[in-house]
Amino acid sequence: RAFFKPILNSAPPSPTKRHTKISVIGAGNVGMAIAQTILTQDLVDELALVDAKPEKLRGEMLDLQHAAAFLPRTKIHASVDYSITAGSDLCIVTAGARQIPGESRLNLIQRNLALFKLIIPPLARYSPDCILLIVSNPVDVLTYVAWKLSGFPPNRVIGSGTNLDSSRFRFLLADHLDVNAQDVQASLAYMVGEHGDSSVALWSSISVGGVPVLSFLERQKIAYEKETLENIRKEVVESAYEVINLKGYTSWAIGYSAANLARSLLRDQRKIHPVSVLATGLYGIDGGDVFLSLPAQLGRSGVMGVANVELTDWEAQQLRNAAATILEVQSQLEI
Ligand code: NAI
Ligand code: 2OP
Repeated sequence: RAFFKPILNSAPPSPTKRHTKISVIGAGNVGMAIAQTILTQDLVDELALVDAKPEKLRGEMLDLQHAAAFLPRTKIHASVDYSITAGSDLCIVTAGARQIPGESRLNLIQRNLALFKLIIPPLARYSPDCILLIVSNPVDVLTYVAWKLSGFPPNRVIGSGTNLDSSRFRFLLADHLDVNAQDVQASLAYMVGEHGDSSVALWSSISVGGVPVLSFLERQKIAYEKETLENIRKEVVESAYEVINLKGYTSWAIGYSAANLARSLLRDQRKIHPVSVLATGLYGIDGGDVFLSLPAQLGRSGVMGVANVELTDWEAQQLRNAAATILEVQSQLEI
């Protein structure tokens, strides 16, 4: 007995919309936070999970599948075999070592470079047209590594970069100014540069309710000192270290950050996000190929361009310094 009876004179089924697929590599804290945010936000038809630990992977897959009654319909599958990623629109890489308390992101590079040599080539082979979104740390260096190993054009290789730092920045700034984080002009409150210790806050372009933040501070008679602003930037940088000290890893915020990027990419939103892109040639950055976060427009083809934001000389110099640090790390790598 069939489940459904056909209605009279119905046409054969036709595809109503394009099938979309995301693969998440690494089913650890970060990979699973991203997977669950993608599912709750109804972003794809198919979600593939890959990890090196088959039991953990199957456990995570079953646990998500058991939520089927509460989630939008998404086919979820998992394997240690990369063939399940075939035909992905977006591959999000989160696999790899994470920092222990007090350790810097850059310190992870040799361990995670070795993993990327195993991960990126099969991803590129099974999904030659996909966009690669790199999350594993140090994210800027590993985005460069993924670009090299994949042979993809740079518009299809993106690092999650300072999209997360910018959200932390808006949260802390709103708290400091006693306003709502959503009124801290989303399109302008950016952290750029390295996702890490040398990230740069673009104070000169931030506004609250249309009022430049520096004059807002003066108007509200909030003591304005360069030091106060630098302390907020430092607090952003310290945020991850603090969370790692307290719970051992960070996961929820990066989960939302990556899903936010996935939406802009797959739904062709053409929104601006501070993400890690090939920055060579911009703001005087030279000396080699380097990925750093800049406000970039994201759509179905990946990075569509970088917003022509005017930086102060000091801000541009900070970016060049971050580029020099990253290039120095890259010069020691055998890719
Ligand atoms: P975790 O240890 O919980 O998970 C890592 C996963 O990678 C494990 O499940 C492990 O089995 C898997 N893995 C290891 N080798 C693999 C391979 N060859 N193929 C497939 N999977 C493999 O670590 P967690 O907390 O999920 O962090 C993952 C990475 O994300 C770290 O590098 C961390 O620093 C980074 N991260 C980046 C953020 C960002 O904003 N860019 C934010 C938070 C974390
Ligand atoms: C974060 O910023 C550790 O990169 C990770 O949460």
